[in-house]
Amino acid sequence: MRPAIPIMTALICAATASLAAVPADSVRSRVAGYRALGAAMKGLTEGVRQGDAGSPRLQAAARDIVAASKAQYRWFPQGSGPQPGVKTAARAEIWGNAPAFRTAQDNFARQATAVERAVAAGDASALRGEIRKLGGACKACHDQFRTSDD
Ligand code: HEC
Repeated sequence: MRPAIPIMTALICAATASLAAVPADSVRSRVAGYRALGAAMKGLTEGVRQGDAGSPRLQAAARDIVAASKAQYRWFPQGSGPQPGVKTAARAEIWGNAPAFRTAQDNFARQATAVERAVAAGDASALRGEIRKLGGACKACHDQFRTSDD
């Protein structure tokens, strides 16, 4: 089956070429996603600090956070990790220790839902507690899976 080898080589080259374009795009869209998440989180904490507990503005922020917590599962395709020519703060452990990363994602998603529920209930003190735990879920993942020098 001699002819198969050049065909395979051509296929691998094509696959490599298309992959090369993907990582920067993946990083760009996940960073945009995290920036939006950061903005929603800021809106939430500032609102609560000003005495807000269940306003439509807060509900929208909580909804954005829940949406990000669902979208994050698509933000880390294979091959979008650290590599030459790609600027990313994502650590290789995300792919190297996928179960632990998945746990960090699940903890965040669960806590995002808890915050949304607390906003719906409008109980300021309960909400503060849930937001603190949400911040803990962000930090736990950043500590383990994000480089700090960025
Ligand atoms: C499961 C892991 C994980 C969770 C949970 C998580 N992050 Fe991140 N975050 C990352 C990683 C990884 C990056 C680096 C992305 C990159 O550079 O490719 C990042 C980057 C960011 C950035 C920087 C974007 C930029 O400008 O470069 C912000 C802001 C951010 N996260 C906010 C948050 C907030 C707020 C939460 C919680 C509400 C959160 N993150 C939860 C993993 C996580």
